Amino acid sequence: MNAQVSPSSSPSGSSLSGSPHLAYRNGQLYLEEVCLNGLAQTYGTPLFVYSKAHMLQALAAYQRGFAGRQAQICYAMKANSSLGVLQVFAQAGCGFDIVSGGELQRVLAAGGDPAKVIFSGVGKTPAEMRLALRAGIGCFNVESVAELEVLNAVALDMGTQAHISLRVNPNVDAMTHPYISTGLKDNKFGIAHEDTLATYQRAAQLTGLKVQGIDCHIGSQITQMGPYLDAMDRVLDLVQALEAAGITLNHIDFGGGLGIAYNGETPPPADALWAQLLAKLDARGFGHKQLMIEPGRSLVGNAGVCLTEVLYLKPGDHKNFCVVDAAMNDLPRPAMYEAYHQVVPLNESEKKSDGLAEPMVWDVVGPICESGDWLGRERSLEVQAGDRLAVLSAGAYCMSMASNYNTRGRAAEVLVEGAQAHLIRRRESAQDQMAMETLV
Ligand code: LLP
Repeated sequence: MNAQVSPSSSPSGSSLSGSPHLAYRNGQLYLEEVCLNGLAQTYGTPLFVYSKAHMLQALAAYQRGFAGRQAQICYAMKANSSLGVLQVFAQAGCGFDIVSGGELQRVLAAGGDPAKVIFSGVGKTPAEMRLALRAGIGCFNVESVAELEVLNAVALDMGTQAHISLRVNPNVDAMTHPYISTGLKDNKFGIAHEDTLATYQRAAQLTGLKVQGIDCHIGSQITQMGPYLDAMDRVLDLVQALEAAGITLNHIDFGGGLGIAYNGETPPPADALWAQLLAKLDARGFGHKQLMIEPGRSLVGNAGVCLTEVLYLKPGDHKNFCVVDAAMNDLPRPAMYEAYHQVVPLNESEKKSDGLAEPMVWDVVGPICESGDWLGRERSLEVQAGDRLAVLSAGAYCMSMASNYNTRGRAAEVLVEGAQAHLIRRRESAQDQMAMETLV
């Protein structure tokens, strides 16, 4: 293995996926100005570490794209709902896209503005609707006629009006993993294109509701412009038809879904994507409408890494296993979607002094009792027990999807800001996990 690598490249020579803030310095992996080995030493592993500068830079790409427009960026907090992360976006003026009452309570706890909250999801309960109306959220993205009726009843019962958008299903292929594609006819999301006008007409009759906009979200980890441009056309066709029928919309919510580089993907930058989408809006005469978007992964995914320690090496005839202390409960994406996350050493200069050692090919696996518990397959690494690794692109849909399977405590989290490191979540103990349980 070549120990002489330049900053921002991995020991194997390929570039570190994702963040300009992640680089080797004198053989040690740093995030911003913080040495990751030092953090692992202080806080233990597995440990999630996020770069505040990366998040703000990712946000700035959208802000540049919307310069001079009326646009509200609502961070889709399901990607990473830790309070310290929400606080970064709240302080930067973002709103939030929520999908549960629990997420709303997190927004409030992090200092977010409820008026900038939009509530998405196919299964909002009446209790969640009440909570959101009491908090004064900005808009409900309603996904079915049945939900429309229930929200109307709840609002009338509270003596108030709920501001709504209808989430429409444009039947566009986002060309992404089937589990995270949401804009096709066969998906459970949104109101079918052909039912849209009738549903808006129904909404207009309900006095507990005030129609504000239209919403669509076609999927996640989208790496091409095409599906977005098609979806925008389909949505604008609807806006045109609705306005012709006398239904005026104040805003267009275009969802989230922009992908990130996990393994060499080249999604369009947010500002370039929006230059194209805004050109389409302008060309079709809707450039004056207020815009909303709900990006999640593209704001946080490549801002984060998960640090883990090698526990044991199990070389074998057919496979070599590198057993680490992070597992599918911490990083569920490989098990759930066979997702790829780059795995790199924290200290690239270890054991390479003789220059003779060759990297071996390892399956990087966790301690959980399932064969699905793998983090990376067939990775060329030069490792020994006690070494530490970083799983990259781990800022989105990792901690927020973590579980306690095998009674493993969820990892700790650190937010770095320049040379400073803030512990934003301590490691979960067995006591924490048992606190809600009682013996019979
Ligand atoms: N808005 C709505 C209505 C959504 O359903 C989602 C994501 C977003 C916004 C944010 O999408 P993003 O910008 O993050 O792509 N767990 C999966 C991803 C599930 C995405 C669900 N919906 C994964 O790990 O790949």
